[in-house]
Amino acid sequence: GDAYKGDYAHFTLKEIYEQHETILRAGEKTEEAIEKAADHIKHAKNIYVTGSGTSYNSALIAKQIFSKYAKIKAEPIMSSELQFAPETIEENAIIIAISQSGESADVLDAVKIGKKANCKIIAIVNLMTSSLAREADIVIGMNCGPEIGVAATKSFTSQLVILYKIVQKLTDNKITINFEKFAESIVKILENPVKIQKIAKVIKDVSDIYVLGRGINYPIAKEAALKLKELTYIHAEGIPGGELKHGPLALMDSSVFVIIINPNDSTYSDTLTSAREIKARGAKIIGVSDIESDVYDYWIEMPKIDQVLYPISEIIPIQFLSYYAALEKDTDPDYPRNLAKSVTVK
Ligand code: G6P
Repeated sequence: GDAYKGDYAHFTLKEIYEQHETILRAGEKTEEAIEKAADHIKHAKNIYVTGSGTSYNSALIAKQIFSKYAKIKAEPIMSSELQFAPETIEENAIIIAISQSGESADVLDAVKIGKKANCKIIAIVNLMTSSLAREADIVIGMNCGPEIGVAATKSFTSQLVILYKIVQKLTDNKITINFEKFAESIVKILENPVKIQKIAKVIKDVSDIYVLGRGINYPIAKEAALKLKELTYIHAEGIPGGELKHGPLALMDSSVFVIIINPNDSTYSDTLTSAREIKARGAKIIGVSDIESDVYDYWIEMPKIDQVLYPISEIIPIQFLSYYAALEKDTDPDYPRNLAKSVTVK
């Protein structure tokens, strides 16, 4: 069936490669639910977005794109934290619960708290038969096929596409996104792992990696750090660029690698400045950007794409890097130690 590795060495690699087509299937067959969801969101007074792990990083992106493109305020809440502050949830609000498995105990608990406050539940799930799907009022399907690798890859990009599709509806299709063209640019990233394989060899014995991004690129930096942790067991941390001077700069020395998420958007020049400040302390810089710079010791060249879609493409080379670094370290990329694909107990 679908959960078959085929010619790939690991499920994780297969799932990374599938993304140029899974992003085109995101939300397919549940278009009506997307429309309904947008309609409810438009008329709601309070909107919360919740999830765990990778799905929480999607919630952080949701906040940014809802406000940037549709001027709608949504509050991201880490599912595991909600039980300690259930009063955060206003009565009759909307809760968008994001979960690949639809079985994460923390997410189900968050939904329970929401239901007590009479909230409407919009679920974004991959497993349409899951507990979360059953609990929800509106169910949107990621539709990306079974994801076996414990570290989420294709489900993340599918979640983002669905959030963008909701945004399109919120703006009455004022923002147009050519997903087909975007899929082609993803193919370009996927076709070219050689440089990334080389970088994987270089980072394999590093003890700390920081990932820096500003604005919408910050949640991507967080997700990148999460992939590195899960797959390579290297300590990795996402840093919002502007906070560098408020602490992280103290950690920069020649033993450290810093990945700079630096697309050609409004954050570009400030982030480049941060990269120079870090480099001056001796750290090695890996730039993920569509623009080359002498500050990068290693440049991961990104395709030139529609600005709106930068976040979805940026994570892909880091998924690759984490996967290949795991191979270099001889760890199992599909089943990282101590972790489970879905955490169904508290
Ligand atoms: C576990 C997995 C992560 C995943 C998280 C949330 O921690 O190892 O990869 O992001 O659960 O899973 P969910 O199925 O709720 O999206």
